[in-house]
Amino acid sequence: MEIYLVEVFDYDLIIVGSGLAGLRAAIEAARVSKGKLRIAIIAKNQLMRPHSISAEGGSAAVLYMDEGDSFDLHAYDTVKGSDYLCDQDIVEFFVRQSPIDILELEHWGTPWARRDDGRIAQRPFGGHSYPRATFAADRTGFYEVHALYDTMLKYGNVDKFHEQFVYDFIIENNKFKGVMAFDIPTGQIRIFKARAGIIATGGLGRLYGYTTYSHLVTGDGLAIALRQGMNLKDIEFVQFHPTGLVPSGILITEGVRGDGGILRNAKGERFMEKYAPTKKDLAPRDIVSRSMMTEILDGKGFKGPNGLDYLLLDFSAIGAEKIKEKLSQVREIGNHYVGLDPVDSPLPVRPSAHYTMGGIDVTRTGFTGVTGLWAAGETACLSVHGSNRLGANSTSECVVFGKVTGEDSAKWLLSDSGSNNLPEGERLNAENFISNAYKDTGDNDPYDIKRDLWTTMDKDAYVFRNEKDLTDGLRIIRGLIERSKKISISEKGNVYNQNLIASLEMKNLVELAEVVVNSALERKESRGSHFRTDYPKRDDDNYLKHTIAKRVGGKLSITYRPVTITKWKPEPRVY
Ligand code: FUM
Repeated sequence: MEIYLVEVFDYDLIIVGSGLAGLRAAIEAARVSKGKLRIAIIAKNQLMRPHSISAEGGSAAVLYMDEGDSFDLHAYDTVKGSDYLCDQDIVEFFVRQSPIDILELEHWGTPWARRDDGRIAQRPFGGHSYPRATFAADRTGFYEVHALYDTMLKYGNVDKFHEQFVYDFIIENNKFKGVMAFDIPTGQIRIFKARAGIIATGGLGRLYGYTTYSHLVTGDGLAIALRQGMNLKDIEFVQFHPTGLVPSGILITEGVRGDGGILRNAKGERFMEKYAPTKKDLAPRDIVSRSMMTEILDGKGFKGPNGLDYLLLDFSAIGAEKIKEKLSQVREIGNHYVGLDPVDSPLPVRPSAHYTMGGIDVTRTGFTGVTGLWAAGETACLSVHGSNRLGANSTSECVVFGKVTGEDSAKWLLSDSGSNNLPEGERLNAENFISNAYKDTGDNDPYDIKRDLWTTMDKDAYVFRNEKDLTDGLRIIRGLIERSKKISISEKGNVYNQNLIASLEMKNLVELAEVVVNSALERKESRGSHFRTDYPKRDDDNYLKHTIAKRVGGKLSITYRPVTITKWKPEPRVY
């Protein structure tokens, strides 16, 4: 093994992550700076292949007030969908800004589907009382990423770095100074000095084995934030998307049900009528996922591989023509992964880990509390989604708040003339970290630890939770954390060392799992995506509040903070 010299880059602003939020932030920062700031955007993958390209069904925005939609309706749907745990002031801002940003995406080349009258088409989505999911077939995220990436290329002051694994932030006296990374293709150690940073590294979905998330999403930014003493907010709330394709978990878009698809149990019954008599299959995801698991646990599912019992998603009401036009990717996925063409066959589905409602605790401009550091997109918790996000609200949130953080950070940089010196000894730290990371400290295999984590999370912190499972899960996770300190990296080379990356990602995941399960254990109520069979009711008297988790002196501390309510008092959620 060879250790390369540390290379130091010097920027004003560094954006970590090239999904919708990171790209949108880069564009806004470049635009505001008028060429005056040196900006870098860096990502673990190629910049054009973030997990955002997997977003399928749509981006929510109020486009048709003339036809009956309204900001208040979108806000109310979001608040009710969140089971009243969102901050209503931020939701009101979000719904007003979203149409502006969706139209901007149109101007930048996103090929939104059209209606017969030529206006932008929108499809119904779960929990929305108006069809407001703006879509580009079932490849919405893919097209949005491309439009943003192309737009970013217009700015000459944004440098792009592909395949950089960021393993730490440099923070001194609560002031951001840059990030530490290694260049995956060469193993070279890199310090990106920067006066400001935006973390946009996505959620923590790969805590779960059965998930819609790509293998990229290992919570790296969240884990670093936790180690750096920042607050993680509402991290126990993980969304399970009702229609993950069995056995892989790949997303089958809610757009299928928006366009007329129906869930059926093994008896052929349309069971959602029982659980949500008005919205039926288009109830919010937490409700549909629980209903599906109730059917499965009542023995009304089909036997699936590895305990993945499933139900069926029936496309027959949609019709072949519409499937081919609006759901072409889902059709491809069905054919490719399970050999079934939805034009003439239902697909096997079951709830799959899909979205992280919680994240780094930030203010309404995405500010983290560390001078010079912002977070945006799924990494950040602005409390737009509370305990359950409505479908199509996340891609919109990424563009809305990507733009806000890009603008805020650039304005701050333009008004701050401070210099940026690296803290003493930072070069040595960088070298030591990487050389230590290669060293064998025991004989545990990082991949085995990750697999054990998946088994635990899929079982103990899934749709239904209870004290015993969460306690068992926490004990197992703490064992995994211990094992993660004693591992061997079988691959020793510098070039594309996938073993090294897998071990660093696994360490991030086990540390985050402890926080998710601990926060879930402490929340002794059921709200949104977090359903405790031992506390099956929402408890507004004791838990209408955000969970704030933080590491203090190596120990996890959990405190709470009130929710902001503007117009909508908590009510029973009936759909
Ligand atoms: O079902 C979907 O297309 C997912 C959309 C979302 O998570 O917003």
